[in-house]
Amino acid sequence: APVSLLVIPGSSRTGSLNLRLARAASRIAEAQGASVHLLDLRALGLPLYDGDIEASEGVPERAGELIDAIVAADAVLLVTPEYNGFPTPLVVNAFDWLSRAPASGARPAGLKATAGKPVGLLSASPGPLGGLRSMNYLRQYLQMAFAMLVHPRQFALSRADQAFDAAGELKEEKARETVGGVVASLLELASALRAARAT
Ligand code: FNR
Repeated sequence: APVSLLVIPGSSRTGSLNLRLARAASRIAEAQGASVHLLDLRALGLPLYDGDIEASEGVPERAGELIDAIVAADAVLLVTPEYNGFPTPLVVNAFDWLSRAPASGARPAGLKATAGKPVGLLSASPGPLGGLRSMNYLRQYLQMAFAMLVHPRQFALSRADQAFDAAGELKEEKARETVGGVVASLLELASALRAARAT
């Protein structure tokens, strides 16, 4: 079976540059033989994390969809903007809820689903740094949840408002190659891990 990749954009905004980059990276991953699923965090409809909601209603069932999608994937590619140098609340809120989700039926507790999962990082911004500043925070944050951060391969696409053609493809060969390199490292790690687990 092909390596399965879960792509998670950190912005669900109409016209999101990161969603565009996530779609471009998904096509590149498919060309490298992966099967790709793109998950819309906004569609999960998670409320802002609130301990009173958790105490009265438990972790929302929709957080379970994120867990199931991660369990089903061999690797995760997070494609997120930075807001004031930090990963977006859409990402942080979803993973905060995930980290609180207990096991239920066949579904593992949230942090069991993410432990050991290879994760790659991309970001896009119209600015000159492409969202690079948030990546160290993301690495630190995801260490709570993911044992395997693909290192040092990551890529921040600067001037992202000018980076795509009308079809949503990355215009510059160099950008396509760099994204392809991040994706290839991630898929390679995922398939090595899968082979190791099978023996
Ligand atoms: C931004 N933006 C931004 N860009 C950047 O490169 N570094 C930053 O620290 C910030 N900070 C920031 C804060 C807030 C609250 C907003 C709304 C925006 C600009 C940001 O990169 C730009 O709006 C992107 O287009 C957002 O990503 P999507 O939605 O296009 O994927």
